[in-house]
Amino acid sequence: MDKWKGYVERIERLKRRKNAIILAHNYQRAEVQDIAEFVGDSLELARKAVDTTSDIIIFCGVDFMAETAAILNLDKKVFIPDLGAICPMAQQLPADDLLVAKREHPDAEVVLYVNTLAESKVLADCICTSANAQEIVRAMDTSTILFGPDHNLAYHAQKATTKRIIPVPEHGLCPSHHQIVLEDLMNAKEAHPGAKIAVHPECIPEVQDSADHIASTSGMVKICKEVKDTEFLIGTEIGLLHRLKKELPGKKFYPISDTAVCPQMKIHTLAKIEAALEKEKPEVVVKKEIMDKARRPIERMLEISK
Ligand code: 13P
Ligand code: SF4
Repeated sequence: MDKWKGYVERIERLKRRKNAIILAHNYQRAEVQDIAEFVGDSLELARKAVDTTSDIIIFCGVDFMAETAAILNLDKKVFIPDLGAICPMAQQLPADDLLVAKREHPDAEVVLYVNTLAESKVLADCICTSANAQEIVRAMDTSTILFGPDHNLAYHAQKATTKRIIPVPEHGLCPSHHQIVLEDLMNAKEAHPGAKIAVHPECIPEVQDSADHIASTSGMVKICKEVKDTEFLIGTEIGLLHRLKKELPGKKFYPISDTAVCPQMKIHTLAKIEAALEKEKPEVVVKKEIMDKARRPIERMLEISK
């Protein structure tokens, strides 16, 4: 931590002076996680953004997460240290493509992963995260559901319901999780035969089917805390390993693939956080008409998934 001492002191001072809070996703760099008031998954971060009494939120995550915080918090300013934190999965479902799918399936409700552009969220009946996708599809009213953009999360959601889930687009995916292949899992299992396997539902079906546990990033932390097992193979972006090792020093964690890195998540640094706090920019801005329409399906999710 010494290496970061100067940044840490200045950032802490700025936070106090401006009544600011830092929210960080579980994939952030270790030093960013360590300076945050709260580290969590996308559902927890959305809830935390609503609950905070701070005037300023510095959001260390990707664009759709920061936008969700801004949409739910009209009375607070939300800043993202680097606007380049753009989730490539969220780019895979432009609103126009969703409109085409809606026309083809006029009776289907639309459930969108929170990893979508705000302009697409406007067209959703309900949002979900990886933590509640199964609960949300079960709560929908129609027998057919359009679900996007992650077809791997759609596969996970389908296991919880007899409703027909149609992925839009057909092969939407996260490039970082796509790198975790069955061969990696088999090799890791051979190296650590006693370890339990916990993976994120953005992993491909073959990897999900070989796991002992499938959960959101914070869900994985919770499971590793609750079960008696002491060794785990972790199938998600490697940033989660920092939190697991920090909160569970008595247990052992190995990444299934150490190349599963999300460069967009790693773009935020302490220097950029300090600059964002000091200059109060870049601000997360979503057009008012989009905000107003996108809020409804996000709030519906928060209502269903208490
Ligand atoms: P979580 O909501 O599980 O943290 O996942 C978000 C994400 O983008 C995973 O790649
Ligand atoms: Fe998007 Fe994948 Fe990065 Fe998550 S890990 S933010 S889904 S690119």
